[in-house]
Order: sequence, then C-alpha cells, then structure tokens
Amino acid sequence: MSSSQGKRGAFIVLEGCDRTGKTSQCQALVDKLTQADIQARYMNFPDRSTQCGKLINGYLTRKDDFTDEGIHLLFTLNRWEKTKEMEKLLRSGISLIVDRYSFSGVAFSSAKGLDMDWCKAPESGLLKPDLVILLTLSPEAMARRGGFGDERYEVPTFQRKVIEKYSMLKDDRYWKTIDADKAFDDLTVELYKEVVNSIDSSGDMAIEKLW
Ligand SMILES: Nc1ncnc2c1ncn2[C@@H]1O[C@H](COP(=O)(O)OP(=O)(O)OP(=O)(O)O)[C@@H](O)[C@H]1O
Ligand SMILES: [Mg+2]
Repeated sequence: MSSSQGKRGAFIVLEGCDRTGKTSQCQALVDKLTQADIQARYMNFPDRSTQCGKLINGYLTRKDDFTDEGIHLLFTLNRWEKTKEMEKLLRSGISLIVDRYSFSGVAFSSAKGLDMDWCKAPESGLLKPDLVILLTLSPEAMARRGGFGDERYEVPTFQRKVIEKYSMLKDDRYWKTIDADKAFDDLTVELYKEVVNSIDSSGDMAIEKLW
C-alpha cells in the first residue's frame, strides 16, 4: 500500500486554466488522502508568502510592474526556493498535491509572446512531477463558471491562448487530461483514483528532474 515504510511520496500537480477547480480539488484530495491514512500535503505556486512571492503578489494585483521576462524569472525562482523542502518531504514518504507548477509558468509567459524554449530553460533541473493532471473546461463551461476577478491574466481571450500553450507542453508519458465540467464530488472521485495510482507506482522510483 502507498503509505508503507521506505516508499517515497508522489509529486502530483494539478494544472489548467483559471476557475477549473485546481485549488479546491487539491485541498479535497489532501483531505481524502489524509482520511485514508496516506500522508499528503497541499502546496501551491506561486507561494505568495516568500520574499519573492511578495513581489509576485504585487505584480498579480497590479500594484507593481515587471517586464515579462522579469516576472517569468520571479515565478521560476519561487519554485527553486521550494525545491529542497519538496524533495525532503517526498523522501520522507509524504506525497505533494501541488496547485500549479512550471507548466503554468511556461504556458502563461509564452502566451504573452515569450519564446517557449527561453521560458523552459530556467525551469530545467527542478523536480519533475510523477503525474500532471490537466483540468479542462470548454469555453462555454468556463463562461458558466464565471467569477473572473481583477487580477492580471483573468481574461477569457488570454485563457484561450494559455490552453493552446498547455497542449504544446503536454507529455502523455506523465500527463492526464480530465474534463472538469462535472459535479465537484464526482471530479474529486475521478482525480483521487489517478492520485492513488500514482502514489502506488511512484514509491520505488527515482525522483527525476524537469526538462
Ligand atoms: N466542479 C465544479 N462545478 C462547479 N463549480 C466549481 C467546480 N469546481 C470548482 N467550482 C467553483 O469554481 C470556482 C473556482 O474554483 P477554484 O478556485 O478551485 O479554481 P482554480 O482552478 O483554483 O482557479 P484559479 O486558477 O483562479 O486559482 C470556485 O468558486 C469553485 O467553488
Ligand atoms: Mg486556484
């Protein structure tokens, strides 16, 4: 079983456009895993609590400005800040359910027009997830969900470009695409199966590096 001794935790990422339910599903998954006695922790990127996270927060809430390249590198640095802690948790048998990761960083920056290879370069060497779940919503379903706020990027036309970039980054060897247009609990059940499979199959595998 996944919580057995000596096994490492799995590194699982939820990706997808705004309002697909990433944050709420990550939290529901950690709750469900914890109830099943499987050690798991929620993490999210950007982590706005670190020093560089505060700069990112200023940018997202339109208080501060950076060049596209500059903010891209800050988002990347925000992940590098967490790498050692993440590796330690994984090695101690704790699975990480992570709300956005490098794929958001590259998809968003390249959707603004930056070269995709340039965007990927500083992410190279970060921990590679065992599983990336891409949550999708049709434009109609996205419009029904609504609730777009005032932060940068929360614009439907921009979100469409992001979807295009995600499809270029998608690697079927460790990505799964799941339609998020269903009742919340039904989606949690579907995601939970994938997550448990990944925890079971990652326990004895080496932790790999991204790109
Ligand atoms: N399956 C669902 N059906 C209907 N509404 C949902 C569903 N899942 C989440 N929601 C609602 O959609 C909104 C967005 O959810 P959530 O914040 O988890 O998405 P997100 O992908 O993290 O968004 P963001 O990218 O903006 O952080 C919330 O109001 C949430 O209650
Ligand atoms: Mg969220």
